[in-house]
Amino acid sequence: MDWQQWFARWEAMQNCYVPYRMHRFDLMLRLPDLPVDDRIHILDLGCGLGSVAFHALGRYPSASVVAVDWNPVLLDMGRRMAEARHEQRIRFVRADIREAEWWREYEEAFDLVLSANALHWLNAEHLAETYRRVHRALKPGGWFMNSDHIASDYPETQARYRQLLKAHQRAALSTDNADDWDGFWQALSQELGQHDLLAQYDAAEIWEGSDDGQPRQFHLDTLRACGFRQVEFHWQEMGEAIIGARK
Ligand SMILES: C[S@@+](CC[C@H](N)C(=O)[O-])C[C@H]1O[C@@H](n2cnc3c(N)ncnc32)[C@H](O)[C@@H]1O
Repeated sequence: MDWQQWFARWEAMQNCYVPYRMHRFDLMLRLPDLPVDDRIHILDLGCGLGSVAFHALGRYPSASVVAVDWNPVLLDMGRRMAEARHEQRIRFVRADIREAEWWREYEEAFDLVLSANALHWLNAEHLAETYRRVHRALKPGGWFMNSDHIASDYPETQARYRQLLKAHQRAALSTDNADDWDGFWQALSQELGQHDLLAQYDAAEIWEGSDDGQPRQFHLDTLRACGFRQVEFHWQEMGEAIIGARK
């Protein structure tokens, strides 16, 4: 089983659904002015297969990453990918971001907290709680970079963003020669001889959020209320954005 090839196939599929995904990963890593050779500690929240985490390890050779997700199917693929790359700087942790317990180990533990396309899975209350926990988990001066769906404050504008995002995804899937979501799982299930893989993924899903994400102003107000001293949008294209916050 060539996990590096399956990882690449997953990335190609995700890149069709999430506009400018690689550019956004790159920005999240380049904007914080952390010395690249330092032993920096990174948290990847809602890591999936660890796509952002692996990118971060490419930029910071002495870093270590804690990559957290709830879905065991994705975590298993991430661990196999780490094995295939002989990558020991990443630790995959199965945890629900909403649970207080696992965060306790990480008071002021991280220089950088990253999250990509994941926090819109939480409802507004849990997102606000997560932002408070991220603040506590960062060292003073630490950086938080969240790349996600972030809705317009105006519902009519957001409705148009949604239509345009769907059109972007359809066009990307038809031109990039990538699997769509169902196609990817069918192909992987076939290769593994495990026909219920997507069902296993679905069974572990803990979705409670909004496809559009919370509105822009919600993020600014909530992050500022946590005590972050610098909160700003670094990049935005319609309902897609990177919001950064510095402790
Ligand atoms: C669309 S995927 C993004 C994965 C990865 N960050 C990427 O950019 O490719 C969203 C991930 O968030 C995870 N997630 C959602 N809610 C979660 C929660 N409450 N606790 C832990 N993980 C969660 C899901 O399991 C899923 O893997």
